[in-house]
Amino acid sequence: MATVHETIDRARLRELIERERGKLLARTEGSQRYYERALAVMPRGVPSSFQAADPRPIYLSHGEGSHVWDVDGNEYVDFHNGFGVMCVGHANAAIVRAVRERAGRGSHFAAPTEGSIVVAEELVRRFGLPQWRFTNSGTESTMDAIHLARAATGRDLVLKIEGSYHGHHDAVMVSVRPPLDQLGERGVAASVPFGAGHPRAVSELTRAIPFNDADVLERVLEDTGDSVAALILEPAMMNITIVAPRPGYLERVRELTARYGVVLVFDEVKTGCTIAAGGAVERFGVQPDVVCLAKAVAGGYPSGAVGMTETLADLITSGSVRQVGTFNGNPLSMAAAQAALTEVLTAEAYAGFEERDARLRAGLDDVIERYGLPCHTVGFGSKGCVVFSSEPLYEYRDYATKVDEELSTLSWLYHMNHGIFMTPGVDEQWTLSVAHTDEELQRYIDAYEAFARDVTAA
Ligand SMILES: Cc1ncc(COP(=O)(O)O)c(C=O)c1O
Repeated sequence: MATVHETIDRARLRELIERERGKLLARTEGSQRYYERALAVMPRGVPSSFQAADPRPIYLSHGEGSHVWDVDGNEYVDFHNGFGVMCVGHANAAIVRAVRERAGRGSHFAAPTEGSIVVAEELVRRFGLPQWRFTNSGTESTMDAIHLARAATGRDLVLKIEGSYHGHHDAVMVSVRPPLDQLGERGVAASVPFGAGHPRAVSELTRAIPFNDADVLERVLEDTGDSVAALILEPAMMNITIVAPRPGYLERVRELTARYGVVLVFDEVKTGCTIAAGGAVERFGVQPDVVCLAKAVAGGYPSGAVGMTETLADLITSGSVRQVGTFNGNPLSMAAAQAALTEVLTAEAYAGFEERDARLRAGLDDVIERYGLPCHTVGFGSKGCVVFSSEPLYEYRDYATKVDEELSTLSWLYHMNHGIFMTPGVDEQWTLSVAHTDEELQRYIDAYEAFARDVTAA
């Protein structure tokens, strides 16, 4: 990745990275033993490649409230929160009670239970879409959304946003992290497959355009609009740090997709139930045709959900689209979702996220200013991050050329070595839970200040 931050002493930065990597490895020798065992039975020693991290994964033993413990007994305040799932905090009493009670009466029937009705009713209230189905993951939610869009329109092409991740099914594993030299001309919709194993013929049906540029969308729709089934996008991009929509962008996207009969899919796997009760729909006030949820929706249990208009729902009712799954609406996941959405993630909880996001970002902004770091903060509700770039990001091409990967890596190491469990890599953000206290937010700021002091020391 290119970087433009020449004020930082690179040699010193690399030395600090080596020093902090060494410290982390030394503090987590138990993880090393797990890692060696795991490598014998799982590629990269992890159940999902997203759990692989440099210098190696840290294996956790348990969590409670805002804290997690690794297998060496190190305690951390958790800002990773399971890649944005655990807004309810770990082992939240309301969720534990609901799941325990449900488990004692049977955990799975593949027949509907009342829990799924209650959760669907709550999602109607939050997101304003009248019909819902359940899935087991974000991947399944976006896959179902695209099936619905193709069935509704009789068209095959899908538009997505350059640099966005929507799960790992064929239709969306396109232009997720396109290398700079394969990006092509800006504004020309392109398909760069992400990973092997996806048929070329399928990848080519998905084309990526830049975020925050409705003029490009308009041009692409003028050329190909009558072949496009869906535009899928994260209303605020959350897999390349956080990239907010420019004022008016989502409104124009809504207007253009409606004009060309293109199904507008909001992938709210990350924003849903985190940046407001009704996710991006509520926060930005734009209503799509489909909302995809997963992660935080089920309070730490595996479930996804797809919300849709009555017209799209009719395709499922008629049997035209086969939206199915043995574990869809699993009673345990529904019990957890019901408790999360109706008891824990209340209006007060969302007000609390706003306050804590503001406090945390103010503390970090102050450090950034005092040490003259080439960084800024972005946040909405329970989601936020430091972006390691002095300039704002509007789209993937900004992210790929402006974010300072080395600075970000060092900051992550400082957090981990100061007892802050944080998402590895440059792409992610923190997730606040209802359990975080002001002292714990201060701990995050203090660790960031230790990083700032050391990396800028003459
Ligand atoms: C925006 C977005 N959509 C979809 C997914 C896929 O969700 P899952 O990992 O539950 O399949 C993710 C996962 O990180 C995501 O961030």
